Amino acid sequence: MHNETQQPTAILLFGATGDLAHRKLYPALYEIYKKNQAPFAVIGMARRPWDHDRYREYVHSALAENGKEDRNDFLNRFYYYSLDVNNTEAYRGLKDLAERLDREYGLGGNRLFYLALAPEFFGTVTLNLQASGLTETAGFKRLIIEKPFGRDLKSAEALNATIQSVFGENEIYRIDHYLGKEMVQNIQVIRFANPIFESIWNNRYISNVQITASETLGVGERAGYYDRTGALLDMVQNHLLQMTALTAMEPPSRLETEDIRDEKVKVLRSIRPVTVESARRDIVKGQYTKGVLPSGESVPGYREEENVPENSETETFVAAKLFIDNFRWAGVPFYIRTGKRMAVKSTQIVIQFKDVPLNPYTSTFFAQEPNLLVIHVQPDEGLSLKLNAKAFTHKWDSKPITLEYCNNCSDVLGGPDAYERLLGDCLRGDSTNFTRWDEVALSWQFVEGIMTAWKETNTPVRFYPAGSMGPAESDALLARDGFHWWPLTRINKH
Ligand code: BG6
Repeated sequence: MHNETQQPTAILLFGATGDLAHRKLYPALYEIYKKNQAPFAVIGMARRPWDHDRYREYVHSALAENGKEDRNDFLNRFYYYSLDVNNTEAYRGLKDLAERLDREYGLGGNRLFYLALAPEFFGTVTLNLQASGLTETAGFKRLIIEKPFGRDLKSAEALNATIQSVFGENEIYRIDHYLGKEMVQNIQVIRFANPIFESIWNNRYISNVQITASETLGVGERAGYYDRTGALLDMVQNHLLQMTALTAMEPPSRLETEDIRDEKVKVLRSIRPVTVESARRDIVKGQYTKGVLPSGESVPGYREEENVPENSETETFVAAKLFIDNFRWAGVPFYIRTGKRMAVKSTQIVIQFKDVPLNPYTSTFFAQEPNLLVIHVQPDEGLSLKLNAKAFTHKWDSKPITLEYCNNCSDVLGGPDAYERLLGDCLRGDSTNFTRWDEVALSWQFVEGIMTAWKETNTPVRFYPAGSMGPAESDALLARDGFHWWPLTRINKH
């Protein structure tokens, strides 16, 4: 792991008036500044003809909405540059401003380019940065890019080639914000620092793995983006496959960036490719219809959302059964699912262990349950372990009990947000929790198998009412194997 401290840096933020910057990046920068006083200056860029003061007001409002108090010493570090990213000439002025701030703040020429932009601009901006000389600098240069990285493997390869003509792989930070979540980072520690888990973490003792990332939100104002993307590309290609890789990988030989990434790559390479036949059987494509959320709110169906075509076949839900064809996992199904407008907002990884043979400790009072290890990623952060113990009866009855550990119960402020962590990592030059190109390529390869199968067979969406846990086909997927989705539980202390 990197222990390097954050160095003075100019952060050149493209998409400075966008939703991501407003909701996530300004609050994250504020926390980084507050905790480290890292001497950075930010140049925010967007098309609007603002000046520095107008921009500072905007950053101020972002902080206020996130409950952060105002600090002028922080806001004064924000500069605005109105830019049409396609206009090559306009980058000259940007370079002048960057050089000025370099001198004023003593930033040593260190530059972090953050592309919080629509992906079609990634290539253009990168080339323009090079053409204008902004990437020729005395300090380090780093690039953060948001997803989606391409639309399929081919376009991702083309985009990667463009970006790598300007930045080295070790200078490219591809964001998957799930990798910045505390409990996603914790998967490795829980697995590899505990011999009682590590020794049984394989196909001899585990019957199946269930990974869920469910949301109650609909597509809101993002329909333009979402309808072209769908849950497969929006969530499975990145977050779900990354969590799968971390749950399944072998222990890295050292805790170095490339050693950890190498292990994830091996898992991604071992995922059994999807065929037309297996897609029909093992992948569920869903879309929400109108319904009522558990809060009582009635919400429209996906096709009734603003800017969604009334015959849209875009999936807002995916459930899939995957196999990882390696020694450790042969025969163990990994069920993954994600969706919008589901009954709960929750991300959990459930490890279901096999039953003991011929268990005599049954009970007439209590249902028998297998051992489950639940990694609660959000909103609760922690672990629960379901075991069986003796019931208060005069017979040898057993009953299910739960051991729980809550990671975010005592500290009401919680740990740093995923974006704060990842931005901090990038400022330190630590790319461990960013995705390397071969991880992205392998994820595309897998997901493309599904895209192709759906296209070839004209797979229709299966409907589910908003406020439910997905279409009936998702339950049938597990029922066929004699399993069911475990309810998404809360940790009791909450
Ligand atoms: C983003 C997706 O990557 O992740 C969104 O584009 C989704 O559609 C979001 O809502 C979920 O993130 P989180 O952190 O709220 O689980």
